[in-house]
Parts: sequence; C-alpha cells; structure tokens
Amino acid sequence: MRYGKITGWGKYVPEKVMNNADFAALIDTSDDWIVQRTGIRRRHVAAETDQCSTMATEAGKRALAQAGLAPADLDLIIVATSSPDFMTPPVSSQVQAQLGAHHVGAFTMSVACPGFVYALITANQFIASGALRNILVIGVELITRMLDWEDRNTAVLFGDGAGAVVLQAADEVCGVRSFVMGSDGEGYEHIIHPSGGTACPPTAERLANREGYIKMNGREVFKFASRKMPEAVIEVVHKAGLTLDDLDLLIPHQANARIIEAAAHMAKLPPEKVFMNVHEYGNTSAASVPIAFCEAIEAGRVHRGDVLCMVAFGAGLTWASAVVQMGKDVPGLPERGS
Ligand SMILES: CC(C)(COP(=O)(O)OP(=O)(O)OC[C@H]1O[C@@H](n2cnc3c(N)ncnc32)[C@H](O)[C@@H]1OP(=O)(O)O)[C@@H](O)C(=O)NCCC(=O)NCCS
Repeated sequence: MRYGKITGWGKYVPEKVMNNADFAALIDTSDDWIVQRTGIRRRHVAAETDQCSTMATEAGKRALAQAGLAPADLDLIIVATSSPDFMTPPVSSQVQAQLGAHHVGAFTMSVACPGFVYALITANQFIASGALRNILVIGVELITRMLDWEDRNTAVLFGDGAGAVVLQAADEVCGVRSFVMGSDGEGYEHIIHPSGGTACPPTAERLANREGYIKMNGREVFKFASRKMPEAVIEVVHKAGLTLDDLDLLIPHQANARIIEAAAHMAKLPPEKVFMNVHEYGNTSAASVPIAFCEAIEAGRVHRGDVLCMVAFGAGLTWASAVVQMGKDVPGLPERGS
C-alpha cells in the first residue's frame, strides 16, 4: 500500500482587493449587512492580466518549489475549477503547458466548490493503487468574471484565487485516510450559470436577461450547507476509525462564517480547531480549501503528523470531505509543541 503524502503547497491570490464599502457605492448593500450575514470583509479580484490558467500555474509553481520537484517530475496534473479560460480546451492542458510539464497527463474536474476535495481524493487513488507517484492538484477560480455586479445576492459573496498541493507516493501512513463524496442533482437550479453551457446558449435575449451570470437561491443553499457540512465531517471522521477529538484542524470551505460556525458547533469542535479566512477572500469556490490549507500552514497551525479534515459543499448540489494526515517528516512543517 502506498500513501499520498502532501509534500508541497502554494497559493496565488490577486493583489487587487475590494472592500465591502466598494459594493455599497455600486448596489443596495452595506458593510454591516455583509459582515453580519457572511463574515466577509474583503475579497481579492483578478486583474485583467490574470486568467484562470495563469493563477493556477502560479499556485502550482509555488507548490512544486515547496516540494522540491521540477515540472518534469510530475505524473499527472488535476485542476478543479468552474471558471476555466474556455469551455474547451480543458484549462488543465493550458496549465500543463505554462508549467512546462512536457506532455504530462492533465485533466480538469468541474465539481463546483468541493472540486479541490474531489480532486485530492482522486489523486490519492492513483497513488494508493501504485499507478502514479507525483501528482499536482490545483483548485482555482476566476469567478468574479461570472458575477452580475448588479445582483446583491451574489456579487458580494465571491472572490478569485488559486491553491495547489503536491501529492507524492510514500510508505508511511498519511494522505487521505477516508473520504465522503456526495451529490444531490435535484437541487441543480439553486446555484446555476444558466447561459454558461450548451442547454441555453448565450443569445442576445438571454444575455439581456442577465443569464450569462451566476444565479443563486442563497436561502436554500444556506439550509443545505448548514446540514450537510457537519454531517460530512462527522461521517468522514468515523470512516477513518477516529473520533472528532482526534482531529487537529478542520479546514472547511470558506463560503460563510455562520455556516462554518454552525458546522463546528454541531461537530463539537472548538474555534482553535477550525480554520477561517472567509473575511479576507470571500468564497473562492474550488480554490477556497487549498488557499485555507496554505494559510493554516503559514499561520503555524498545521504540524507534522497532524490529522486534518477538509470539507466543502457547493453547486450541483455537491459535497465532499476527507480526513488527511500530514507526513511525519515534511520539510516546512513544524513539530507539534515546538
Ligand atoms: C446569501 C446569504 C448570505 C443571505 O443571508 P440570509 O441571512 O440567508 O438572508 P436572506 O436570504 O434571509 O435575505 C434577507 C434579505 O437580504 C437581502 N439581501 C441579499 N443580499 C444582500 C446584500 N448583499 N445586501 C443587503 N441585503 C441583501 C435579500 O434580498 C433579502 O431581502 P428580502 O427579505 O427583502 O427579500 C445566505 O443565505 C448564504 O450565505 N447562503 C449560502 C450561500 C453560499 O454559500 N453560496 C455558495 C455556495 S458554494
């Protein structure tokens, strides 16, 4: 049995920041409303020169550097996103070329906000089976270009960014120890980009009807997420043969502070065991968990041998969780108690 050890991590977030007050000048909203209902204070917004592919590539380069690997060492690249440069070709091939990872296999996964967790679980399977050794997993989103800046229900919630990890085959017990993947397509209309695919091609009429932008039924998504996130945490921890007390840190999808707090409460996890950075980035969809993971490491909250739980929910509706154990000798991570 081989294990998928996380040996590298990296993030890229655009420099440009939009504060809540910037929205109050554009639409009928306020800093108070946004902070109280979501916990979001700022979000990073891509510059014209940023693309989904370039952000993913930058995060990927940083993760490779941390792991001490060259692009040529990779066996596979998986990119999770719902906001690729183009509907086709797959953005993963652009990332492969930009990294200079010559002819390495690459594919894109579209599983909305849980996309990175799905991709990590998938990468781990290739390593556990013995098929591959070095895999780059990226979650990236340039979602602000899919937003209706006149729709206060969605405009204030999202931000752009990318996060990546390198998974390498190892003999010690680590990596994804258990996982949960779920979807409920009955709720497909609750978060939808109507004229973003082939069902409703973007005619002038549809675009005038603002169907070229993401629409969301926030109340329904809130109810679903508040129930599903804690369920997915509790289930995946039990699947790993652990108890919630064994968790060192929960790294949840950063959509809304109230959803995270409700999940932590139901899973009986104290605030020091829950990582939150939604105030700084808003919801970066598939990039949210890997950016949070990188920042948890930067904040000294991830140690060698730690047991983490990653969990996310999103459009589909979809959800995923994974218990991830860090390796015992990973350079760049401190010893617990040091
Ligand atoms: C969107 C969300 C923040 C709204 O918070 P809420 O407490 O549920 O608020 P409600 O849906 O009850 O709406 C209350 C009112 O605020 C209004 N409102 C919505 N966005 C607003 C904004 N940016 N500023 C001010 N008012 C706003 C609504 O229009 C509604 O007004 P109405 O009662 O006159 O219709 C919350 O539902 C949420 O976070 N949902 C989950 C969204 C999510 O996570 N999506 C991504 C999934 S990956």
